[in-house]
Amino acid sequence: MRIRPRRNRRTAAIRALVEETSLRISSLIYPLFILPPKLAADEVSSMPGIFRRNPEDTLKEVEECLALGIASFILFPAVPEESKDPTATYSYHPDNFYLHTIRMIKTRFPEATVITDVAMDPYSSDGHDGLVKEGNILNDETLPILGKMSLAQAEAGADIIGPSDMMDGRVGYIRDVLDEKGYEEVAIMSYTAKYASACYGPFRDALDSAPKAGDKKTYQMNPANRREALREALLDEAEGADYLMVKPALPYLDVISDLNMSSTLPVVAYQVSGEYAMIKAAAAKGWLLEEAMVKETLTSIKRAGADAIITYFAKDLAAQA
Ligand code: PBG
Repeated sequence: MRIRPRRNRRTAAIRALVEETSLRISSLIYPLFILPPKLAADEVSSMPGIFRRNPEDTLKEVEECLALGIASFILFPAVPEESKDPTATYSYHPDNFYLHTIRMIKTRFPEATVITDVAMDPYSSDGHDGLVKEGNILNDETLPILGKMSLAQAEAGADIIGPSDMMDGRVGYIRDVLDEKGYEEVAIMSYTAKYASACYGPFRDALDSAPKAGDKKTYQMNPANRREALREALLDEAEGADYLMVKPALPYLDVISDLNMSSTLPVVAYQVSGEYAMIKAAAAKGWLLEEAMVKETLTSIKRAGADAIITYFAKDLAAQA
């Protein structure tokens, strides 16, 4: 035998020499769940190790993360039921604690990158990402609400607006609203290929944001579809997106790879709450080794073509490094 691939795997140093993909802490984005002021931090029951925190406690968390080398955060609000309504007005209310938290973080830590979430569900009494009328999710009527939400977040100092709602035309709509008000430097990270996945359950526990009726299949993508992600990517690019996101991550590596090959925009993958919960639960049972699983899954997501990864494991990983 002249050709022996094992020669390149013989020692740790040689393996490192020929390693094709590496994980860097600077390419990880850490999600933070925000509670209203004064409430005590509480752990999300289906996401052990992940807490919902009030704005003050969030600042401390951001400070700890920055010290560990994590510079990018994506924020989600846990809005009390009494502040929710059918048109999500709280999302751009001047007293909104989420907007205050963005402002506090950017004032205290201007070097941190703050990414927002744009969708109606955390603020909607219907629990849908768009406006609901007689059981239908209205598209064009939702856009002005998303526009107001995005503008309020930009005014609060957000670096990157993250529309996760999957309404048609929202990237272009938001871009126009931001540009009109002088926020041309604020970027848009579009949830380009967001699938109607069973992996979002723990996140909806964290925000208490599950749909009150129906499901999200008329706006989130069918998990069976691959080429449709390219259609969404072409639209987002044409509408002015700065980043394309694929979500969930591990079950959709083919889609991550496709977007990497077909677009020149950075590709972001979201390792979602259910992916986190699966690893945590199996590790708690002693069935899998958590640290090894985290490294393997994140490396695989990178290898598939993700430039950056949103992951609930970011802090753990940074602390181990
Ligand atoms: C909703 C939104 C969801 C997530 C991010 N934004 C859930 C949903 O679409 O129901 C899920 C993230 C996760 O599961 O970690 N706009």
